[in-house]
Amino acid sequence: MNFSNYQTIIQRQCEQLKVAMPDESELQFGFHNHQALAAEIKASPLQALSYADFVQLAQYHPESGYYSSGRIPFGQTGDFTTAPELSNVFSQAVAESIAPTLDAVNGRVIEFGAGSGKMAAEIITQLGDRIQQYCIVEVSAALKQLQKETLQQQGIDCEQTVRWLTQLPEPPVTATVIGNELLDAIPAHRFKVDLQGEFFEQMITLQDDEFAVAWQPVISDALQLWLQQHRDKVDWQADVIYEAAPWRCGWVNSVSDLLSSGSIVLLDYGYAAEEFFNPDRTTGTVQCFYRHQQHEQFFWLTGLQDITSHVNFSELCMAFESNGFELSGFTNQADLLLNSGVLEQLPTDRDLVAQARLSQSLQKLMMPGEMGEVVKAIAFSKNIAQNAQPKISSLLASRL
Ligand SMILES: C[S@@+](CC[C@H](N)C(=O)[O-])C[C@H]1O[C@@H](n2cnc3c(N)ncnc32)[C@H](O)[C@@H]1O
Repeated sequence: MNFSNYQTIIQRQCEQLKVAMPDESELQFGFHNHQALAAEIKASPLQALSYADFVQLAQYHPESGYYSSGRIPFGQTGDFTTAPELSNVFSQAVAESIAPTLDAVNGRVIEFGAGSGKMAAEIITQLGDRIQQYCIVEVSAALKQLQKETLQQQGIDCEQTVRWLTQLPEPPVTATVIGNELLDAIPAHRFKVDLQGEFFEQMITLQDDEFAVAWQPVISDALQLWLQQHRDKVDWQADVIYEAAPWRCGWVNSVSDLLSSGSIVLLDYGYAAEEFFNPDRTTGTVQCFYRHQQHEQFFWLTGLQDITSHVNFSELCMAFESNGFELSGFTNQADLLLNSGVLEQLPTDRDLVAQARLSQSLQKLMMPGEMGEVVKAIAFSKNIAQNAQPKISSLLASRL
């Protein structure tokens, strides 16, 4: 496909989404990602990539993936807003939740996928000297740079306290691991069942140079293995799109290999298994974000938009438990904020504009129709005393 045809396709997609066209340099970047994906499809034996492989390349291709673009995905000119971007109240609540574990882990925190660095800055500010070392694992070079700037603007001495890890440290490590909206950025696999009970995997092919969805007998090794372990556990309904995330369990395994003792606090969009596999959600949980427009067309605007899918917290819990961790808490974001005590400490002397802005942010963070219910906080611990475990309530633990 030539650039002019690509532009025509993107124009059509932008019109359908009712969003502005990318500028010339963004278009060039997206075109490279499109070409890289198309080349991979053409080179593959089935002339198709699994959903997981497709999204991995769309998001993390070293030259043309969304997170390699150098564009900042947050803010008005970005594509989406996360909780730390809405209000520092959220990061303060996360700081409160890890505070009890800090002495047991010698003040060492490792954050995966730190975004703009706002949560890191707030946690370091709030917990002060109790943080001896704050390590960040970040795949995006542009975000690493932004994180450094954010921390410096907050007067945090990066040389002293903060380290960016290019690879995981040698085990054994004692630390508190945290991550907000990290796992939903690690691609899942998608599949469905037909009326005869045969499983089919969602694949992406090329049709007249455009990406198109096809359903083929399950080919991905990781999904085949996952189905061997799970096919009898769910009452699968025909033609519902389901998701499984063995790569996220891979992340759990590598973090578990690392930590000889410590705790983990993760926040993400998602549900416990029963709700996760609810057949009423016929089209799965994939969410794409382009210029703050949310939609499900993951094969549009590749390299230019963020692509996420929700977390199955029961699966996550099983993966950590089978690696020797115990569950320390599982709740939703509204409950996390309410129980953290940070809402009682909010200054009351704000001007009216600041007060209105804060109310609006709290509404987004806490209301059931916004992030309050669908975003969950989960915590695990290994080899640390009960009173040193993260402070996250077990409101929803019985659902796991
Ligand atoms: C949706 S953003 C969330 C950013 C930030 N935590 C926040 O809440 O604003 C996802 C982040 O995860 C990072 N990421 C994705 N996969 C990762 C991995 N395997 N290891 C570390 N970071 C990763 C991305 O680069 C990005 O910073």
